[in-house]
Amino acid sequence: MQRHSGPLRAGDSVLFIDRKSRRYLRTLRAGAKISVHDGTVASDSLIGRPDGSRITSSVNEIFLVLRPSYAELVLHLPREAQVIYPKDAAAILVWGDVFPGATVVEAGVGPGALTIALLRAVGDEARVVSYEGREEHSEAARRNVARFFGEAPNWTVKLADVYAAIDEPDVDRIVLDVPEPWRALEAGARSLVPGGILVGYVPTVLQVKSFVDALHAHPGFGAISTFETLQRFWYVREMSIRPEHRMVAHTGFLTVARRLAPAGV
Ligand SMILES: C[S@@+](CC[C@H](N)C(=O)[O-])C[C@H]1O[C@@H](n2cnc3c(N)ncnc32)[C@H](O)[C@@H]1O
Repeated sequence: MQRHSGPLRAGDSVLFIDRKSRRYLRTLRAGAKISVHDGTVASDSLIGRPDGSRITSSVNEIFLVLRPSYAELVLHLPREAQVIYPKDAAAILVWGDVFPGATVVEAGVGPGALTIALLRAVGDEARVVSYEGREEHSEAARRNVARFFGEAPNWTVKLADVYAAIDEPDVDRIVLDVPEPWRALEAGARSLVPGGILVGYVPTVLQVKSFVDALHAHPGFGAISTFETLQRFWYVREMSIRPEHRMVAHTGFLTVARRLAPAGV
């Protein structure tokens, strides 16, 4: 896993933050010039400096330079498919009870935003398997994980339809971010350990209904709950303290269910 502390190094992704709080995600490469806003900055003038340094660009613009936190990174992740927002990734990790050492299956991988959160949460000794139906998305996720997380020998990406099968037995947690998660219930039930947790993320109420109805109808699942999270940022400057004018008002709904032990056991 990439280091998240210590002096800035070649290969690090960093955010350049200008005086208007605009953010630009760039990568430090030895010997290379970085274009940022209207000017350039030499990578070498940052490599070896502390995280959180200030730098002046070729056009005298001052930037704060920071390694992005996970939440900041996700908002800037190169993507062709929608990512799970940090507020929902946080809820998935906690309500999905993703623990160090867990075996986790997710589908689909998309740009790999949630994958990075899962890999960070389970640690090196665990296993994450990502099902993805489209090759270009699995390749994009590989690039993002390699660039923003680092080597992940405990991660497998499978180009496969999660509705058809989940090949891994004894899985502790499954996270579904696919349009019809109810179609993966049979595969999930076969794969999850008793007590294991299934989390489904869907953007619309009709999908929630289909998913929850299917969970209730399936004898292998119980303890079902559905919720959403809302996050409102605040503007706090001197005597002007109020909610920000704009917010991401809707992302998706999370449904969490437990794999039950077979009847009579
Ligand atoms: C919204 S994206 C996932 C985003 C990802 N969770 C993240 O946080 O970056 C949904 C992905 O599911 C994939 N997908 C849709 N149906 C699938 C299926 N049946 N099996 C596997 N992947 C599927 C799509 O190709 C797409 O890449």
